[in-house]
This record gives sequence, structure tokens and C-alpha cells, in this order.
Amino acid sequence: MPAASLLVVHAAELVTLAGPSGPRAGALQGNVQVIDDGAVAVDAAGSIIMAGPTTTVLRQVDRAPDALVLDARGRAVLPGFVDPHTHAIFAGDRVREFEALLSGVDYLDLLTRGCGILHTMRLTSAADEEELVDRAGAALDRMLVAGTTTVEIKTGYGNTTADELKLLRVIARLAATRPQAVVGTLLAAHAVPLEYRDDPDRYVDIVCRSTIPEAAAMGIARFCDVFCEAGVFSLDHARRILLTGRQYGLIPKIHAEQRHRTGGARLAAEVGALTADHLEHVEEEDLAALRASGTIAVLLPGAAFMLREKRLPPARRMIELGIPVALGTDFNPGSSPIWSVPVIIGLACVQLGLTPAEALVAATINAAYAIGAGAQVGSMEPGKRADLVILDVPSYRYIPYYFGATLVDTVIAGGKIVVR
Ligand code: NIG
Ligand code: FE
Repeated sequence: MPAASLLVVHAAELVTLAGPSGPRAGALQGNVQVIDDGAVAVDAAGSIIMAGPTTTVLRQVDRAPDALVLDARGRAVLPGFVDPHTHAIFAGDRVREFEALLSGVDYLDLLTRGCGILHTMRLTSAADEEELVDRAGAALDRMLVAGTTTVEIKTGYGNTTADELKLLRVIARLAATRPQAVVGTLLAAHAVPLEYRDDPDRYVDIVCRSTIPEAAAMGIARFCDVFCEAGVFSLDHARRILLTGRQYGLIPKIHAEQRHRTGGARLAAEVGALTADHLEHVEEEDLAALRASGTIAVLLPGAAFMLREKRLPPARRMIELGIPVALGTDFNPGSSPIWSVPVIIGLACVQLGLTPAEALVAATINAAYAIGAGAQVGSMEPGKRADLVILDVPSYRYIPYYFGATLVDTVIAGGKIVVR
């Protein structure tokens, strides 16, 4: 066993989320292992050596001569949050549009008027790579302060193949320079650019013949996503895009049943998508398909909240059926300008009826599996990346209770203290 270069000791509550490999399904409630007076030891390479009771860890793990010891008395220590769904690279914002939405304008109507996502696409396509790295980097800093140590980032605000490839380069630069682990997703089919409005098939042709092959060749994106929605990309478009992506080695993900039921959830099952995201409008038979395919449901209560969506995803029913549930911020300038996972945990408990324990599982280990990183992050287990959040409260249960607060005292990413 290597010597510890960092030790966090005497945590009031050490929530390891250790358990069997694979996303947690079924009765999630029992899945949260809590160790009173817990400790975690980290090696010089930034990996977890051991997590357990403080006395055991101190007895079994040698300490390097210059080891740093953090006393977490009175504080809860959790794995860093994993955000499996963001659109974090964009220029501008949509604060004025937000007011229009509040006054009753429909989110999808904005698209038909060339606003909404299309507005952000114009600004983002015009911005240079440098500016986008800076802007997204600032967003990632805010996420870090809120405890997010792993983040999935989608492209999607590029008008052309070249713009989308630029966004992939931004993702690669963020991955190389930020404290967080970054996972990239190609979302070339996010909105149909105005010039293809009358012939969306032609746009889908471009995505399938040029954007997906060129993007896949860069080796930056791991996933291929599509916004399958009434008036945006049809079920047939989505199928073609996800199958093309799969052919080029990109794992399918899908924005499904967000505003209407279009068959996206069943398509997710059909193409073997790792996740189906949103799912406000799913029906029982869609859930059966997701259950059978082992697709993870990524719920995004921030978007439903900001868009004042009346219909919410049947989270309790999903858990009852044994569908693994993950939570994400969906951070983007339109439907969810929310970067805080603790806020999302609060919404998931109050709006979707998850227990605090279920929400924590959904925002850590299940979110990690939702981006194919379940073996590296999402729990405190030997060999995993030492991503830790020390709260300034004694239990994770306070996260949804003190709704809206960040409650983060210290953040450790890859064994390094990055927020204090
Ligand atoms: O997940 N629904 C599509 N995409 C994003 C919104 C992006 C935007 O409004 O800019 C979402 O909600
Ligand atoms: Fe999204």
C-alpha cells in the first residue's frame, strides 16, 4: 500500500458510496454507506488508498513525511459531484429571453422565431476559441466551488461542422487545463439552423456525412447526442444520427420526451443508448423499454423548473422499476442557467420526490456511470480518483434542506485541494 500524502480524518459523516460496480438501481435508499468518524487516505498520484473509520485508516495506512492532514470534525465528506449533462460552452446569455419565458412565451416557439438555441448558436459560432475557453472555464470554476469535480460538456452551439469542431477543441483544452475531469459529447443536432428550416433532412445529411465523421476522428467526444423533440429533430432524424454516431464509435445519448412524447425513450432502448435525458413526458411502456435495455435515466429538474414545466418525470416510478436514475444540471443559457449540483439535489428531492440519499447516489455514482466514468469517479474506493467535497454541515441530508445554499467548505480534485 502506498503512503498517504493527504488524509482527511474525523469526518462527522464519511459517505463513501462504495458498492457493487454498475449504476445503482432498485431501492436506492439502502445504498448510501455512512461511516461516522470517517477518514480517507490519498496517495501522491491523487488516487484513493482507503476510506473507512478514522482509527482503521490511521492504523493501516502509512503517512508520507510531508503528508497533509485535514481535520473534518463536524463536517460531512462526500465524493465530488459528477454532472453528466451540461451545455457549458456558449457565448452571451439569454437573460432577456428568460423574462419573455416568465411572461408566458413558449420555449419551443422561440426556436421557430430564430431565437432561443438559435440565438446562442449565432453568438457562439461568431466567438473565437480563446473567448469560449475563457467563458466556459469561468463556468467550470463556479461549478467547482459548488463541488462538481467531473463534468460532461456537450457541443451544440455551432452552426456548421467547423464550428462544432471548434467547440470540441474547447472541450479538449478545458480537459487539459481545468481541475475537473471533463467528458465530451457531440451534440451536432441541437437545433436546425434557419437556412435549413424548410429542409431539415439536408442538415441531418451534413451532420451524418461530415460533422460526425470529422468529429469522431478528433477523438475528443465520447458520446453522440441529439435533441429529439417536436419541431426540432424527428424520431427518424434522431435514429439516423445516433446510428451514424455509433458507427463512428460514439456512444448514443438522447434528449428525449422533454416537452412532448416523441418516442425518444424507446429509441434510446432500441439503439442501446447509455442514457436517456429529461423524460418529463414518458409513459409506462417507455419505462419498460428503458428498464429492459439498462438505459440510465438522466433527470434534469433545473430545466423543468426554469421552464415551469407542469409535467415532471416519474422519478419514483423509475426507482420502483429499478431504472438507474442520475441527476444533471443541464447547465445552459436557455432552459437551465443553473450550475450547482446541490441546487439540483434540492429540486430532485422537493419536486421529483427523491430521498436525499437517492439524490446523492444520482448525483455521484450513477452520474459517473451515465458518462462511462463509473470505474474512475463517483465514490470513495481504493484506486479511484480522489475527488472529495467537505461540507460545512455534518450530514449530506442538509443539502436539500438548506435549499439553494452551496454548503461546500473544501473541494479536492485528483488529490489536490482546489477550493478552500
Ligand atoms: O437540454 N433541450 C435542448 N437543449 C437544452 C437547452 C439548450 C438551450 O436552450 O440553449 C436542454 O434543455
Ligand atoms: Fe440538455
